[in-house]
Amino acid sequence: MITDAQLAQYEEQGAVTIDSPFTTEQLDRAEAAWDRLRDNGGAPYEDPDYIEVIQHPYFEEVAKKLLRADAVHLWWGLAPHERAPASAPYDDPREQWARGCHVDIQATLEDFEATPRRMRAELWFWLNDVPAHRGAMRILPGSHRSIMAHWSRVLRPEHKAELPRVHGLRPAPVPATAAAFPEYIPDLGERPYLECEPVPAVARRGQILVLCSAGLHSAWQNEDIVPRKAMGTSWIAAGVSGGLPKNQRDALMDFFPRLRRQLRPDRAHIVPDHFDWLFESDYDPRWPETFPPSHP
Ligand SMILES: [Fe+2]
Repeated sequence: MITDAQLAQYEEQGAVTIDSPFTTEQLDRAEAAWDRLRDNGGAPYEDPDYIEVIQHPYFEEVAKKLLRADAVHLWWGLAPHERAPASAPYDDPREQWARGCHVDIQATLEDFEATPRRMRAELWFWLNDVPAHRGAMRILPGSHRSIMAHWSRVLRPEHKAELPRVHGLRPAPVPATAAAFPEYIPDLGERPYLECEPVPAVARRGQILVLCSAGLHSAWQNEDIVPRKAMGTSWIAAGVSGGLPKNQRDALMDFFPRLRRQLRPDRAHIVPDHFDWLFESDYDPRWPETFPPSHP
């Protein structure tokens, strides 16, 4: 289970890697399911070995502790995720960070510090080792707090009421073609975010990266010859509402009932049978308080 020291690291740095109770045999089955799904492009929710992973009680227990909640449920399913080997020459690390760093969740510090926490708990379950050179995700520790404090300062009360939400944003320069444009994350520390040095979220097979993606992080080129294999799952406290863009909300409302039917009766509660907690939240209508000053 996640320790108090690990919880403190999650709160202060926005990311922590923890052990899981999965045995080598269970990991072998999960990795074989991941390989099958990648090779056949099959529906994950029809693979019994995949269902065994998603309904394992450990993820739910970690999410409860993390979200300080008596009850939690999935906010998204269990997405098989591949970071395939890139081909050389590899991009300069500073360039990769400057191009890729972003946040996925928008929430205020009050949301994060509430009980239950109004945040998406993101758990990345690693099915093979993640050394730094195998495309380990890069994370800027502590940036979740400064950025959420910024949203606490600038957002209007009626917008704070529509958080937390999935809302991808990045530091300037935001390309005018980006969906988020002209919204951006201003520099809030002593150094510009794009010049900061992120840390690789390295892990051993079977460990779980517990991530708060309200902070800056980035995908990274895999310089190894094997893919990085993950299953990503995310959770929300029961009774807390969260927002998704229309396409993601539509997808969730389509697959949640199908996933729920595959679960053992004693595990079905991890997928809610209603969507009262899930509101639609898109880039439009715009929230002007997140525009740069040059866009009044
Ligand atoms: Fe992300």
